[in-house]
Amino acid sequence: MKIVVAGTGYVGLVTGACLSEIGHNVTCVDIDKNKVEMMKQGISPIYEPGLDELLKRNHDEGRLDFTIDYKNAYKDADLIFIGVGTPEREDGSANLDYVFNVCRQIAENAEKDCLVVVKSTVPIGTNDRIEEFLKENVKNDIQIEVASNPEFLAQGTAVVDTLYAKRIVIGVESKKAEELLKEVYEGYNQPIVVTNRRSAEMVKYASNDFLALKISFMNEIANFCEMVGADVEDVAKGMSFDPRIGDKFLNAGIGYGGSCFPKDTKALHWLANDNGYELKTIKATIEVNENQKYKLFRQAKNKFGSLKGLKVAVLGLTFKPGTDDLREAPSIPNVRRLLDEGAEIIAYDPVGVENFKKVYPSGITYVSTPEEALKDADMAFIFTEWNEIKSLDLSVYEDLMYTPIIFDGRNCYKVKEAKERQIDYYSIGRKAILNLEEKALSKVKTAMVI
Ligand code: UGA
Repeated sequence: MKIVVAGTGYVGLVTGACLSEIGHNVTCVDIDKNKVEMMKQGISPIYEPGLDELLKRNHDEGRLDFTIDYKNAYKDADLIFIGVGTPEREDGSANLDYVFNVCRQIAENAEKDCLVVVKSTVPIGTNDRIEEFLKENVKNDIQIEVASNPEFLAQGTAVVDTLYAKRIVIGVESKKAEELLKEVYEGYNQPIVVTNRRSAEMVKYASNDFLALKISFMNEIANFCEMVGADVEDVAKGMSFDPRIGDKFLNAGIGYGGSCFPKDTKALHWLANDNGYELKTIKATIEVNENQKYKLFRQAKNKFGSLKGLKVAVLGLTFKPGTDDLREAPSIPNVRRLLDEGAEIIAYDPVGVENFKKVYPSGITYVSTPEEALKDADMAFIFTEWNEIKSLDLSVYEDLMYTPIIFDGRNCYKVKEAKERQIDYYSIGRKAILNLEEKALSKVKTAMVI
């Protein structure tokens, strides 16, 4: 069978590469010629561990190809996966322009019956709309059916998440579509949940929004832990042994980011409102996350009053480790606030610097090691728990910084270790350690007066 994948972002490219890995013949379509040439050479346009190898091997072995010639690709395809983006509109709803552009191209060029499989995250009911759209616009005398097949991969672990997925969800309206998709996924040997299209679309949003809710819940518990002298790490550990709760996504921090949770919580909330229903838990999830982002900034402001002229080491820029993606990364609005306060920013990230430069082309000093960032700094903010940062001993902060004051948004260090150092250490959901003597702090205060 001939499989075509539309879009070579995270979802499309990983889908295409992994399907070729289990033996299918796959053609990935993209509009960007340079990108297509790069992928043919086994170079992934996105930073994703293991993807380059997969592209190269399957391309060299003739199972995976890339093209900008969508007309030819769609002409005789048996299955067309749509994996293009559905970014957030200003009002929080999902923008489906890319999805419908692809659908128009399919309708105009397909010359044989085919199954269109929607992997992009789309609002409930979109697959029905797509099928109607295709029926109305199809040029040749053919049947095009639509199936929903949401994607659950996470950035940084996308290849493993796909090849060893916990489940495959397919939303279909016919036995024929079900059988075809089961055949496609046979090689993965993973549990398949079969349902109708609308339920499959909802599984995707409900899964992402539930994970976001779990994070916001833990962030609220963390904030309260600080008030009553509890330690959120121990609380999470204590909770995690209950299999009904589980041990994943209980890490408190400065809020979730990325291209999915912020977008998908807002989109589902918007969609519910549009249907006359308020999803109160999702609304609270969004609000808690927005507030959490600035928690450490507020603490820094409270401590210093003004941040003008102070040297701030920013460690970690991406929304999580293992990716160079900065979408909705808490570092971006925090750096904005620090700059607005007149602070001097020295930033370090193992892979995210080039993308961060696009957001802040000037006004920030970028360095290539955490030590360079910490040298003579008045305070440090940790926004991403990269190994390169976590593995740094607290003694390095103590030795290199002008005043070792750390605002750790990802709980990279143990409170016990912080207690043994001459540092001030603020983290999330744990008691702040204030070991710096007044003498050391007065240096910062003097700097502020100047
Ligand atoms: C997320 C989901 O995990 C995937 O299952 C889903 O397929 C994907 O969205 C998508 O819809 O495409 P991703 O955005 O790549 O994947 O990243 P996650 O690992 O889920 O992390 C999202 C954010 O939550 C990060 O900012 C991370 O730091 C934060 N997080 C995660 C926490 O603050 N605490 C946790 O315990 C876990």
